[in-house]
Amino acid sequence: MNDQEMKLPWKLTYFLEPDLIMPAIMDETQLRTTLKDFEVRDDDVFLVTYPKAGTNWTCEILDAILNIDNLEVLKTRSLAEKVPLLEFGPSRHPDLLEDGIQDVPSIVETVLNSAPSPRRVPTHLLPKYCPSQLFTKKPKTVFIDRNPKDCLVSLFGWHQYVRFLLPVEWDIFFDAHMDGHTVYGPYPEFLKAWYEYKDEPWFLFMRYEDLKKTPKESIKKIAKFLGKDLTDDQLNKAVRVTSFDYMKKANETVKGRDFYLRPTGVWQRKGVVGDWRNRFTVAQNEAFEKYYYGRMKELGIDHLNYTF
Ligand code: A3P
Repeated sequence: MNDQEMKLPWKLTYFLEPDLIMPAIMDETQLRTTLKDFEVRDDDVFLVTYPKAGTNWTCEILDAILNIDNLEVLKTRSLAEKVPLLEFGPSRHPDLLEDGIQDVPSIVETVLNSAPSPRRVPTHLLPKYCPSQLFTKKPKTVFIDRNPKDCLVSLFGWHQYVRFLLPVEWDIFFDAHMDGHTVYGPYPEFLKAWYEYKDEPWFLFMRYEDLKKTPKESIKKIAKFLGKDLTDDQLNKAVRVTSFDYMKKANETVKGRDFYLRPTGVWQRKGVVGDWRNRFTVAQNEAFEKYYYGRMKELGIDHLNYTF
């Protein structure tokens, strides 16, 4: 990074709020206005995640559950169809143009509006930026929580791999995160905002670490939440097609990959719990825990212990 690029907001990002940095591919006008009016269907399945908490994985699990008797269909999807992130595009941000990215299409217009029901609608947005109808129609919504240290290391990897984010050095990235200045903002605030809904019947709160530890039981729970009782055989199939190795192989040739990834980028990195240990220094870990536990306490969600 050069000196100019180190100034906030980083290249390829902008401030949506004084302390909320967004990637330039997420259009500011859309976030401030039109997304609020997105037409929610009663049978939509929303998926809410902080970036890198397992969005792609859970989207695939939802797709497998919804198409359990026709799993071949999963192989036909482009990346945009696999993870149709609600807020993605449209964008012609100058930073993107400079990097030769001409036109980032709106996922709403190119995928979601024409998708057959039931749709999967993933988002990383805070509730206040979500479509108003999410809170009136209350479609089934799955929330995936992941321990924030692993999310951060995964997001750092993402900066190196995707064409829409600037590659940064770890120490600079870590400090920026501690100041609340990585994309989509701080995790405790995100968690607190969504945790409010955790006991509502339309909302299912799950954890990446549980999905890893007990994939079959976790998929069964999600299926049940969606009103589907899968047989043992169906559950085994869903576990198989959503395993890390299976998805990694499938994603190597998925349509649309080059649009998102740098030539050396990988779509799925490691998919393990605790990889932060390979990146955090002792001092960074101490500072992180002090800040996180303190902030979670201030927000009243310090009972949410993580498996780090
Ligand atoms: P790592 O970078 O730690 O490997 P998202 O889809 O929200 O961007 O999250 C990406 C993270 O989920 C990455 O974590 C990725 O490897 C992990 N992931 C993707 N598919 C997975 C799977 N089938 N099983 C476990 N982890 C998976």
